[in-house]
Amino acid sequence: MTQDELKTLVGQAALQYVVPGAILGVGTGSTVNKFIDALAGMKDQIKGAVSSSVASTARLQALGIPVFDSNEVDELAVYVDGADEIDGKGYMIKGGGAALTREKIVASMSRLFVCIADESKRVPVLGAFPLPVEIVPMARRRLQAQFAALGGRATVRMKDGQPLQTDNGQQILDVTGLQITDPLGFETVVSQWPGVVTVGVFAHQKAGVCLLGTPEGILTLKYQ
Ligand code: 5RP
Repeated sequence: MTQDELKTLVGQAALQYVVPGAILGVGTGSTVNKFIDALAGMKDQIKGAVSSSVASTARLQALGIPVFDSNEVDELAVYVDGADEIDGKGYMIKGGGAALTREKIVASMSRLFVCIADESKRVPVLGAFPLPVEIVPMARRRLQAQFAALGGRATVRMKDGQPLQTDNGQQILDVTGLQITDPLGFETVVSQWPGVVTVGVFAHQKAGVCLLGTPEGILTLKYQ
């Protein structure tokens, strides 16, 4: 099976976690796009979605799924999103699609994070994937030095020859060279550096379950 077919498989499998009549948290990325496409088939059974990006909002609305502002909602039962890496405890690196801040906000509103991913995303230790960090541009140089002190190399993500601008009007640093052996501690520390909007380690908002697409079928991994 191709990676694309594995993404379709887990996108469809995540429908089992959709709570009828409820509002659902929806993430961002190519795997989530498969989920949104599958969700269209049961759109009359849900109240709507809270979305984590402009791109996902557009896709949901194009399929006729109502999108609610996050401030209209107290809590969500379920949030479905992809990951760039996921370890054995359900800790993740996210933000490959630059949507990490809104993803973390919607995840924090949700009782269960359902991660959907193909098996290439499963890793023993986070960090081989360049860690996305959303930053206030004024802090770039200082933050690059702070990551260098940890052994990382932080470069500004570019798009069309310019620094990529996130949905929140900020920039992304991608940090290579890190081995994140303590995701909880790392997220706690880096989140406090001035100018960091969101670090792409999702340890405090980790996955509760991961539907992992493999050539042998879907593995359901549950985390404490
Ligand atoms: C976007 C994300 C995505 O969930 C992550 O990049 C995985 O994307 P894909 O499903 O396309 O591999 O964090 O900011």
